[in-house]
Amino acid sequence: MERKRVFSGIQPTGTVHIGNYFGAIKQWIALQDDYDALYCIVDLHAITVPQKPSALRQNIINMAKWYIAAGIDPQKSTIFVQSDIPAHSELAWILNTIARMGDMEKMTQFKDKSGDGRERASVALFDYPVLMAADILLYDTHIVPVGDDQVQHVELTRTLARRYNKRFGETFIVPRTLLSHGARIMGLDNPHKKMSKSAVSVYNYIALTDNAETIRKKIKKAVTDSGSEIVYSDDKPALKNLLTLYHLATGTSFAELEARYAQSSYGEFKRDLAEALIDHIVPIQERFSAISDEEVHDILTRGAARARAYANEKMRAVRALCGLGHV
Ligand code: AMP
Ligand code: TRP
Repeated sequence: MERKRVFSGIQPTGTVHIGNYFGAIKQWIALQDDYDALYCIVDLHAITVPQKPSALRQNIINMAKWYIAAGIDPQKSTIFVQSDIPAHSELAWILNTIARMGDMEKMTQFKDKSGDGRERASVALFDYPVLMAADILLYDTHIVPVGDDQVQHVELTRTLARRYNKRFGETFIVPRTLLSHGARIMGLDNPHKKMSKSAVSVYNYIALTDNAETIRKKIKKAVTDSGSEIVYSDDKPALKNLLTLYHLATGTSFAELEARYAQSSYGEFKRDLAEALIDHIVPIQERFSAISDEEVHDILTRGAARARAYANEKMRAVRALCGLGHV
């Protein structure tokens, strides 16, 4: 029986933080044994906001290294760069013709990212979810493992797939989102906003590049809730976030953590949490440093070849159904 497909991606834009790791990458690893997995580095999404070309190139290579260092096995999964496969852009254009302004104007991420600068935001930033839909639909994807900020985009993808199928004939699989426990890691400096690459303060996030000393300092400075009890509860959003990180780094259940720290201060709990995160992240950093740029180029070239074969076939069908071209 043919295996079902999973597709996901991250933008190569500098800092990779533990929100990206626990929210997305970590669940990709478990999926690669049971699914035909495609993990993409979405550079065309990255340029929806200005990028320095030389930095972008290096960030693409580094993102591939993080995927591999975290445990994505290039023998099992297809790792590739979005712009290596022009079909993503072509399908995005075709999907643009069925995406409605009304669909797009509902997208909250555009509102968040453009903020007060809506008039100066690029058209591409507005159109970003359609390109994401193209990424997913091009490969007959069944499952899209992402953090919860992407759920709305996968919903749009489902709408576009259904609309296309109805208008032109059954072509696309209607995919579904897969959310993890770490689907929404909150900022360490503000448990009401998600941890983000674009945060103003470095105390918002723990980057995968942070060394042990920095991790200790950041966890120590992380905001906590009033009171002193260590419990997992919606009334204590900061602790809930820290306990989630502890659970994700060690696999220890919330009940067990609550019992273990019943008599402890926030200080003791935070010291242990920092060490747990260090134990989890340092081996990933060591693997990252051991991978050469050459190895990554080879892996990405092989990945692109596999993705291209599938994408080209799909696009032939799509063009024919739309009546595009002349042969
Ligand atoms: P981005 O950094 O926007 O390219 O996001 C890459 C992946 O990480 C997506 O699947 C996001 O949903 C996920 N992600 C980003 N920030 C967080 C967060 N704070 N908590 C959980 N997942 C996140
Ligand atoms: N938009 C996603 C993000 O910012 C990245 C992304 C692009 C993606 N294309 C995708 C994720 C396809 C899953 C599937 O996080």
